[in-house]
Amino acid sequence: MSSLTTGDIDAVCGLVDELCGICWDESKSYLIDSRLSGIAEQAECANYKDLVRKVRAELVPGLKEKFVDAITTNETLWFRDGSPFEALQHKAIPELIDERSGTVFPKRMRIWSAACSTGQEPYSIAMTIAGLIPDFDQWDIQILGTDISPAAVEKAKSGMYGELEIGRGMDPERLNRYFLKKGNQWQVNDRIRAKCTFQTKNLHQPFTGMGPFDIIFCRNVAIYFSQEDQHALFNKLADVLSPNGWIFPGSSESLAHVGPQWVAQQHCRANCYRPNRTEAVYA
Ligand SMILES: C[S@@+](CC[C@H](N)C(=O)[O-])C[C@H]1O[C@@H](n2cnc3c(N)ncnc32)[C@H](O)[C@@H]1O
Repeated sequence: MSSLTTGDIDAVCGLVDELCGICWDESKSYLIDSRLSGIAEQAECANYKDLVRKVRAELVPGLKEKFVDAITTNETLWFRDGSPFEALQHKAIPELIDERSGTVFPKRMRIWSAACSTGQEPYSIAMTIAGLIPDFDQWDIQILGTDISPAAVEKAKSGMYGELEIGRGMDPERLNRYFLKKGNQWQVNDRIRAKCTFQTKNLHQPFTGMGPFDIIFCRNVAIYFSQEDQHALFNKLADVLSPNGWIFPGSSESLAHVGPQWVAQQHCRANCYRPNRTEAVYA
């Protein structure tokens, strides 16, 4: 394939933005070669502009999905950053249990891990709740994991992880309690998987028919979006969050710039945000 031209870079960055809303520019040209040369060659493309044309025209079955898989960064680990899971355990889940008791659905919880990558985040949430609620199996708990990358979602659905992935944040006690050894892999057990469902979802598309969620984890994805897209995303998340809900962004992300509709809180050293219910915001 011919070497990378300015036209190639512009074409690829345009498509990356169009498909995923991820901001790539010429400073990311090293990623174009490292991540896309393989699929461009497989699809017999003369150059990257040709690859972009084939993806857009959907001329090669599965090429668009492979392109999305290649451009997304699926870095994740179990109980990433620790503190959000401590805040769940010590604050958000106990408050939710308390709030629900006495309602018609005292054992219902709806949680969304938006941009869940290969599933470690939603499964870590499920394990945190399982460790807290003795009759976990009897509860109507739904943890939805979504991601734009079809390959990441497939892996999350399988619940199957290798030694290297397990080594990134999973402690021996939970490994023993929540996984089954399958050959040289570990699979999340049925109790935990029963509470987790997975779908491909682009966070730039409407959230029609979703929610309301009690808790949303939306971590380490907004950093790839423009400021304008971040605003749009958190405004849409507000629409599918229950009035007493919680949002956990990534440790380097903040909703401070999004507007007064969010109130920042800190629990167990984790930053989280809750809808601002004072009338002034809506006046
Ligand atoms: C760095 S991972 C974060 C995974 C997990 N939330 C965590 O913090 O460990 C970012 C994920 O965002 C996903 N992603 C990127 N753009 C997206 C979009 N427009 N809609 C949905 N997911 C997206 C990627 O596929 C990737 O799996």
